[in-house]
Amino acid sequence: MSNFEVIVYEKRNGIGYVTLNRPEALNAYNLQMRDELYQVLGAIKDDPEVKAVIFRGAGEKAFCAGADLSEFLTAPSPVVARQVRWERDVWGLFLSITKPLIAALHGYVLGSGIEIALCCDIRLASEDTQFGLPEVGLGIIPAAGGTQTLPRVIGRAKASEILLSGRWITAKEAHRLKLVNRVVPRPDLLPAAERLANKIKGYNPTAVTCAKQAITEGLDLSLEQGLELEARLGECLFAVK
Ligand code: COA
Repeated sequence: MSNFEVIVYEKRNGIGYVTLNRPEALNAYNLQMRDELYQVLGAIKDDPEVKAVIFRGAGEKAFCAGADLSEFLTAPSPVVARQVRWERDVWGLFLSITKPLIAALHGYVLGSGIEIALCCDIRLASEDTQFGLPEVGLGIIPAAGGTQTLPRVIGRAKASEILLSGRWITAKEAHRLKLVNRVVPRPDLLPAAERLANKIKGYNPTAVTCAKQAITEGLDLSLEQGLELEARLGECLFAVK
């Protein structure tokens, strides 16, 4: 187990567990969390022992209540902010991970909380989960890919409504919109995520990686290009057998 200050990273039986761990601040995403998440994601990416990863939030109330408002707009200057982002592109790193990532969501899932969830492949939510993107109401826009990832998952019209109006949605609506794969009672959240991770973990990791790559990269291609990608990945997989 690696204990950072605001993230707990554990590895058990081939599954990585990443826990956002600032329950007293509803796991708000601060600079410390950004730096620790960057380290954890790098470790996950390079670790052949990790076959699937579960992301969750510590405490009863939230997966993550968004960016830390006490650090709001405190970057020294736009130049420095851009430099840091370039050096530590957490979101680029997140999306480059080829292993299956599962988000186990509960309570408040706001701002960067939704964006972390959207970097995952499969999202499970407990019945009490509430989702929202408050950024535009705060005079900013999402900075962790939300304007791009949300419409790709739930479509332009609903993403625009949620982003532009700031309206929060319940787990039930999130399921209807296909933002989450499944809604489960709170006590079943982690067990459900673990069942899924264990199932995937039992498969050939190269096949899992290729399937994820075909889905994620294919979404940004034409059908023709996507079919070529699928054929190429299939051939590679066949060649290593
Ligand atoms: N940044 C920093 N601290 C936060 C936070 C955030 N985004 N969200 C919650 N907290 C802190 C609160 O300041 C409070 O700290 P305190 O106990 O030291 O006063 C603690 O977490 C608990 O939050 P509280 O507001 O008391 O809980 P609540 O159940 O009454 O309300 C929310 C929950 C999520 C509705 C409310 O905390 C909220 O609106 N948070 C901000 C959400 C937001 O705008 N995020 C930014 C997105 S860009």
